[in-house]
Amino acid sequence: MSSALGAGGGAIHRWAGPIQVLSMLLLFQLAWLPAVTSDLYAPKAILGTQTGPRLQLSHADLRNSSAVFWEGGVSGGYQTLLLDEDRGWLLVGGKDHIYLLKSDRLDLPTRTIYWPASAEHVEHCRQAGNSLEMDCANFVRVLQPFNKTHVYVCGTGAYHPQCSYIHLGANSEEPVFLLSPTVESGRGKCPFSPREPFTARMTDGELYSGTSVDFMGANAAISRTAVQASSQDYIRTEAYDEHWLNEPEFVGSFSIPDTRSPDDDKVYFFFREKAVEGGQWNKMIHSRVARVCKNDVGGKRSLINRWTTFLKARLVCSIPGPSGMDTLFDELRKTLFSSSDIFVLETKDPQNPTIYGVFTTSSAVFRGSAVCLYSMAAIRAAFNGPFAHKDGPDYRWMEFRDRIPYPRPGTCPSETYDALYRSTRDLPDEVVSFMRQHQLMWEPVIPLMNRPVLTLSNAPYGLRKVVVDRVETDEGPYDVLHLGTDDGRLLKAVSVMKDSWHTEEIILEELTLFQIPSPILSMEMSSKRHQLYIASNQGVVQLGVHRCGRYGQDCPACCLARDPYCSWNGQTCSRTLTTSRRRARRQDVKYGDPWSQCPQPDNESDSVETKVLYGVEGNSTFLECMAKTAQAEIRWTVLNTDPQQNNQQNPGPGQGERQLPHDDDRSHPIKRGLLVQRLEPADQGVYTCTAYEHSYSQVLARYRLHVIPQRNLVSPGRQHHHHHQNHNPIHEPTQPDLGPVVRGGPGSHHYPPARSGWLPKNSPSQAASRSDNDLLLVGSNSLSLDQYCEQLWYREKRRQQKLRSLKLKQESRKARVRRNYAPERSLSSSLRPPLGR
Ligand SMILES: *[C@@H]1O[C@H](CO)[C@@H](O)[C@H](O)[C@H]1NC(C)=O
Ligand SMILES: *[C@@H]1O[C@H](CO)[C@@H](O)[C@H](O)[C@H]1NC(C)=O
Ligand SMILES: *[C@@H]1O[C@H](CO)[C@@H](O)[C@H](O)[C@H]1NC(C)=O
Ligand SMILES: *[C@@H]1O[C@H](CO)[C@@H](O)[C@H](O)[C@H]1NC(C)=O
Repeated sequence: MSSALGAGGGAIHRWAGPIQVLSMLLLFQLAWLPAVTSDLYAPKAILGTQTGPRLQLSHADLRNSSAVFWEGGVSGGYQTLLLDEDRGWLLVGGKDHIYLLKSDRLDLPTRTIYWPASAEHVEHCRQAGNSLEMDCANFVRVLQPFNKTHVYVCGTGAYHPQCSYIHLGANSEEPVFLLSPTVESGRGKCPFSPREPFTARMTDGELYSGTSVDFMGANAAISRTAVQASSQDYIRTEAYDEHWLNEPEFVGSFSIPDTRSPDDDKVYFFFREKAVEGGQWNKMIHSRVARVCKNDVGGKRSLINRWTTFLKARLVCSIPGPSGMDTLFDELRKTLFSSSDIFVLETKDPQNPTIYGVFTTSSAVFRGSAVCLYSMAAIRAAFNGPFAHKDGPDYRWMEFRDRIPYPRPGTCPSETYDALYRSTRDLPDEVVSFMRQHQLMWEPVIPLMNRPVLTLSNAPYGLRKVVVDRVETDEGPYDVLHLGTDDGRLLKAVSVMKDSWHTEEIILEELTLFQIPSPILSMEMSSKRHQLYIASNQGVVQLGVHRCGRYGQDCPACCLARDPYCSWNGQTCSRTLTTSRRRARRQDVKYGDPWSQCPQPDNESDSVETKVLYGVEGNSTFLECMAKTAQAEIRWTVLNTDPQQNNQQNPGPGQGERQLPHDDDRSHPIKRGLLVQRLEPADQGVYTCTAYEHSYSQVLARYRLHVIPQRNLVSPGRQHHHHHQNHNPIHEPTQPDLGPVVRGGPGSHHYPPARSGWLPKNSPSQAASRSDNDLLLVGSNSLSLDQYCEQLWYREKRRQQKLRSLKLKQESRKARVRRNYAPERSLSSSLRPPLGR
């Protein structure tokens, strides 16, 4: 990396850290596999395993159940949310309006402030060629708490940003909710455009923002404005200097203390920008983290009203691949993830929150989203590391290896470092002039574990917003990610670290929040109320963070879901309360193994009732069986009881059973069950549908399928005729019949006929009448199919009743019953003697 100087030219140089090179290699390989399927974009060995969402809920379903929808807005554009947890309200900023909602119930009546742009500015905006509908209105984009009674609010004001105060008062029951008549310029605090990404954060009465400060959006700045101060305190990055900022798109900003001394407090900005280090031929976009000292007041002789502590570093979120490749390809460079949202997860240590970033990429080669996780230690390490340096326009970027002036550039003036420097105006000229030329750090910030904690590579949507909830469980804390997509969905995911090399990404839920797909614009979470507030252009949704019961109420379903919020309490799958007796709760997020968590079910074969089904030879039949979740694999087994093979002398369970192939020419396991086409007598048997997940399996359904031979069916019109043709249809010993269910039972004298030539097959009228599904008669003795089935049904029901009562008796004796479900058996033989007899 520290290779000798050389002319920049068009040479491909090695600015990128090893991670980027590795990821280039990976993407390169994929790009050159023409037949590559989208699945292959997420090489499982590298990314950790991931399965589809366990729970998928539609908009209609959510509307019916837990979600509360607020659609009381007038004009859309709900980009800005401000939640006051303590006082229980939610402010929503929209187009020309600010709304006051109750955070407990969004559907309660809301209050509205109308705050339009002035007619003059609307007209000016329109004359500049902007759309009246889309641009020339006051889009509220800043809602920041100001003091105990007021909220600071800014809007685009039809390309003339303006700010004011909302008076809410101290009484939480009855907020005042009035807009102050004071209007301040919003320039540098709020973008001109309703769509420009920007960031603004109020701390200690000062507004830190990253936004463009002009009509054209060409002059972007990270700045600080003292709100309502007598002094016109304004400080910013150098204008029109690509080394400071190069067409940035801001993502977020946060105030994070560095030491115990408030003098060391810094504000961090997250954004993406065109990478200067890419050279003028390379239009690479890099994600960045930048920081400034809160007590920076600019320089004295140079950098007046400019930051003297502004530094930035590259933020990497990419998929590492195998090493060994050092050629970079411009096309592929764009496929790195670039940031779209940042969430700072507060921890007990205020100096060391955990930083979550959502990153997206879209190019012809690779489309996807990723979530990366950064420690403050890694971010500080980059800022404490070497500076990047460029000797002049014709030189390439390299690591700065000369003497670094004292005090170290970028250090806040404070007693922690050197009590001599009380203000940035005291900084030696040497330091200030170093800061003029060095904004960029040489080392990038690498995510924890060197790779994303979550990657979505073949989803039909991209990630836009994230909030993270740290959930305490018996196994320790889990960070649950709530992710808003660009098509109005909400994902709930958790990344489980199995060991230092392998993580498992679990998508718990995928909720379609909005009827019309549109991007999630803003998200807030109330940890107190366990609620999420999610805004799109269509409105705001209030949603609980968990829906445990939807996973299923039994212990295995709850356990297999692996939702850190949920556990099985002995009766239901419900929210884990940290106060509840821990021993009683069952959950296993790490492995999702019901065997270790759940009371062993009685033998599973007893828990599912065998349903009886009749099918007609040659016709199709459908055995319904739905998995509760997409993660479960469904397998069908069959124990054939083909009447032609007289071999079903009490086969035991499992014995003689075979698994159905995933697809053969006639049986098709499909999503909702098993379709068997063109039934043959040999298909008769007991079909079992079992769901497999991890090491766990559960029988979901069992069917006893009887196949009624085609030749036994006759339409009423032909009945008489057949009688004549068929003199002795009954008791053909060599021929199969309707099955031994009938055999030996009462009414066996109604034995249906069984002669293959009985129904003349080549008569066209026969064929026609066969398919016209009127009353079908079975056998020469005019026993209708209905009657016949009824008999069978009663017999079956009696058999099952008897079984049930027998079973109850046996259970009370605590003996284990092993029911033999081979179908063709008389009542007495269908039960094995209980064990121990
Ligand atoms: C919603 O609830 C109504 C009435 O309770 C019901 O008719 C409808 O089927 C439900 N819709 C969904 C998608 O659950
Ligand atoms: C909060 O700020 C507003 C606007 O400047 C001011 O009128 C009000 O007095 C302040 N309230 C408190 C409690 O400081
Ligand atoms: C019945 O349960 C035992 C353990 O309890 C298990 O080994 C056996 O496989 C089960 N039988 C069936 C048919 O699932
Ligand atoms: C066979 O299936 C067809 C439709 O697939 C149906 O119209 C016909 O009535 C069925 N025949 C019998 C005997 O069930």
